[in-house]
Amino acid sequence: MQILVLHGPNLNLLGSREPAVYGHTTLAQIDEQLARQAREAGATLQSFQSNHEGALIDRVQAARADGTGFIVINPGGLTHTSVALRDALAAVALPFVEVHLSNVHRREAFRHHSYFSDLAQGVIAGLGPAGYRAAVAFALEQLASSGV
Ligand code: DQA
Repeated sequence: MQILVLHGPNLNLLGSREPAVYGHTTLAQIDEQLARQAREAGATLQSFQSNHEGALIDRVQAARADGTGFIVINPGGLTHTSVALRDALAAVALPFVEVHLSNVHRREAFRHHSYFSDLAQGVIAGLGPAGYRAAVAFALEQLASSGV
């Protein structure tokens, strides 16, 4: 049971970045909580953040062969722009949940469209770090029931 958590551009700044929108929790704290949550369920979880679209695409492609059974992804701003990252997820055909810390539907109109949502198993937006935990809980359930 192996879960890959991907964070897109600017999420490395969590904790100091627009705290009124994204809160005070750092990315390291989120990743630590998720790793513990997976460990307690007998699974492994790897996290990867990049500000570079190509690096995220490379990581998704690598997931095809590294034992990953489920992806949790917050594509950040690439949510609204990246056909290429979407294509990578479609190519590896691994199930994934799309997470956003903020409720993108309550924000600017350009954040209302996602290139990922129609491929995702589900989408969680607006719950802050709890959204990632809910996504990992779902991934653990799915992996346990599929035996991956
Ligand atoms: C975000 C929402 C995006 O619109 C934004 O570009 C981000 C973060 C979120 O987690 O709320 O970088 O994905």
